[in-house]
Amino acid sequence: MALKGLRMAELRSQWGSKVGFVLAASGSAIGLGNIVFFSANAYKYGGGAFYIPYIVAFCILGIPIMLMELALGAHTGKAFPQSLHRIGKRPAEFIGWWGVLNATVICMYYVAILAWVLGMFIGSMKGLWSSEPVTSGAFGSLALPNPFGYFFGMLGSWDTLWYVAIVWALNLLIVLRGARSIESATRFLVPLMWLCMIALIVRGVSLPNGEQGAYLLFSPNFTVMADPEVWKGAFSQMFFTLSLGFGIMTAYASYLPKKSDQVHNAATICFLNCSFEFIAGLAVFSLLFAFSVVPKASTLSMMFFVVPQGIAKLPHFVVGFGMLFFFLLFIAGLTSSISLVEAFVASILDKFRWRRKKAVLVVALCSMLGSMCFALPHVVDRTLASNGTLGLTLLDLFDHWSFSYGLLIVGFFECLIIGWVFGARKLREIINRDSTLGIGWWWDALIKVVNPVIIAVVIGWGVWTEVRDGLYGASFTIQGIPWLSWFAFGAWFLFTTGLALVFTFGRKYREEQG
Ligand code: TRP
Repeated sequence: MALKGLRMAELRSQWGSKVGFVLAASGSAIGLGNIVFFSANAYKYGGGAFYIPYIVAFCILGIPIMLMELALGAHTGKAFPQSLHRIGKRPAEFIGWWGVLNATVICMYYVAILAWVLGMFIGSMKGLWSSEPVTSGAFGSLALPNPFGYFFGMLGSWDTLWYVAIVWALNLLIVLRGARSIESATRFLVPLMWLCMIALIVRGVSLPNGEQGAYLLFSPNFTVMADPEVWKGAFSQMFFTLSLGFGIMTAYASYLPKKSDQVHNAATICFLNCSFEFIAGLAVFSLLFAFSVVPKASTLSMMFFVVPQGIAKLPHFVVGFGMLFFFLLFIAGLTSSISLVEAFVASILDKFRWRRKKAVLVVALCSMLGSMCFALPHVVDRTLASNGTLGLTLLDLFDHWSFSYGLLIVGFFECLIIGWVFGARKLREIINRDSTLGIGWWWDALIKVVNPVIIAVVIGWGVWTEVRDGLYGASFTIQGIPWLSWFAFGAWFLFTTGLALVFTFGRKYREEQG
């Protein structure tokens, strides 16, 4: 028994401390989404009113599901697929793999975005902030003002593939030694990220008129709350921003001692994430308001054009603040992407018993190839119609499936498996045993009924609009390449469902086989 315990300890690393775990998990939750999503959505859905659906989604869905995912990992000591296997055998394990693979699709394009962020950071030293218009081979003789000019010039060059390789190399390095190396990296990067954010918000709010933006962000406009789209936006964003439905939190929590206060952990991670999101919203809105830049709805343009446009108008230190902004985005995104790599690697180790190095290498290399497809420079649409490049268009299409549907689908089944097969009450008793602040029967109701119903309605609403208006993106044309939207849907479906079948049934899993 003692020997076996020793072997298991060798196989699974552990967090060095609770602080280390909370930093890593909040580093995963706080990412690109927190910096631009909230402000973009807040603007799109009518300024102030968005935070009300957001807070509702936070309480009903965010904290309870976070708690469920953490408790699952800590209780079983396994990553997502295998912890679900314990509850519902292979059908449940399939959902686990499907979730991890769907998250891998997200991770692939997320890293492509990070690569562009890196490119903009490097560009800051190479004239990105100069006021000269840019002519680049990518779009013929069209001259564009910065920062658009630099961005599209970069997008249309092969440099981006190098940036993708660099980001994946960093991921690989950080994840190589598991919880230990992740902890050392996040201990340094996560506090640094908060410092950068604070510097930006101080700059934003101290601008003349800056506080008006903050006011706009929080002044409610209740009429838009009747629009179901607003609620849909808030609920699906909650999964993304808290890293739920990725299998990440379960994997991270599996490195915790069995007895740890999960209510405290869940509450801390959720509050850190959402307070970061709020202050990022303040920084962005105050900066934009001070210079009357209108925040556009799309998140990517927020990150690459709108906020940079505001920065370019700062009276002093434009290059410095520009670099600070992209540096912040970069470390925020990096601490998120590593968490998915770890979730995938941990899942493989649990089932297939590979050597850690091999698993990390295979996952990183395969995902790097995927990321490169999203960073493909060509075809740049010379008119900059649609979304500009093939890579960007693919990104948009895959994002639609894996983000707007995939995460919700995983959340739906996760709630049902834990709520009904394992028993929400049983898990709650386990949680309460080690938590200072106990949770009540209402948690069971949220997991068993309320959340599945809400998620089903949101998914159903999405499918219905899809049927009514035609497949998402059917009208996108990038230099006449047809069927892009069907291709994206098919590729996403095959990748997630096909590979999940292979992983689930490819090898029989016996728990004590190691
Ligand atoms: N929570 C992150 C955000 O708000 C998103 C995220 C977390 C993520 N883990 C990830 C994205 C892994 C891709 C891969 O931005």
